[in-house]
Amino acid sequence: MEVRVAAKAGFCFGVKRAIEIAMATVRNMAGPIYSLGPLIHNSQVVEYLAAKGIREIKSIEGIDVGTLIIRSHGVGPALLETARAKGLNIVDATCPFVRRAQVLARDLIEKGYQVVVVGDRDHPEVKGIVDWTRGRATVIENPAEAALIKKESKIGVVAQTTQPLENFESVLKVLSETGAEMKVCNTICNATAERQQAALDLARQADVMIVVGGANSANTRKLADICRESGTPTYHIETAGELDPVWFRGAKIAGLTAGASTPDWIIEEVKNRMSEIEEMNCQEEGMKEAMEV
Ligand code: F3S
Repeated sequence: MEVRVAAKAGFCFGVKRAIEIAMATVRNMAGPIYSLGPLIHNSQVVEYLAAKGIREIKSIEGIDVGTLIIRSHGVGPALLETARAKGLNIVDATCPFVRRAQVLARDLIEKGYQVVVVGDRDHPEVKGIVDWTRGRATVIENPAEAALIKKESKIGVVAQTTQPLENFESVLKVLSETGAEMKVCNTICNATAERQQAALDLARQADVMIVVGGANSANTRKLADICRESGTPTYHIETAGELDPVWFRGAKIAGLTAGASTPDWIIEEVKNRMSEIEEMNCQEEGMKEAMEV
């Protein structure tokens, strides 16, 4: 069995950068260090960072000293102002692509546009973008919601960075039918689309697919769905320990991909374990054949 890793898998630029910033903060800053929410959606990495001294908090209430790391999803200006007013030291690890969406949304609202954010309204990134418009933007998740929008003369549109392009385009089509003047800012980051395409390409070649990433990571779950929809048996795991040798029996090619919040060391562990399983399965096959002779 050959183990193939997807051409694009694992940490995206923004997550890698956030982890590097967090590690540099641990090295250079004295005093308590906090991250507002999990720095990434991967419990193994979060545990590792906790062991290095980064404490995850849900709110800055009651936190009056120390350093606050802002994760790649970003936050709104009100939270930053409150944290600064408390005297907290802020280390901003907002992904530059998310930052671009925040700035565009803020500028559009200042220029008098009705701002529409195409994305998941419960996602922290979307909440942060809306906060940059001081709460005045409207979140639209799909074309059906776009059809209900109150008609304004000027509509400015930005997207959650991880939006599927097809959904963004379908929403734009509905909005354009309102006849409003439209200013469209495509703020979709191609890291997600690249990982999804690479996973699909590999799933089409493979007999079995392994997708590695946090159980609570939406982008990892999406990768697993895409692989499954290709018809290839697919397993979503968090660590190498979850691999079951039975999954690989009779497989000639085993594919491996990972969500944007999965570090290289976990991918490597899984890959090594898959190679060990291959050896074990070969030995078992060899023994069976020998006993039959
Ligand atoms: Fe940034 Fe794109 Fe990753 S927006 S956090 S590089 S998915």
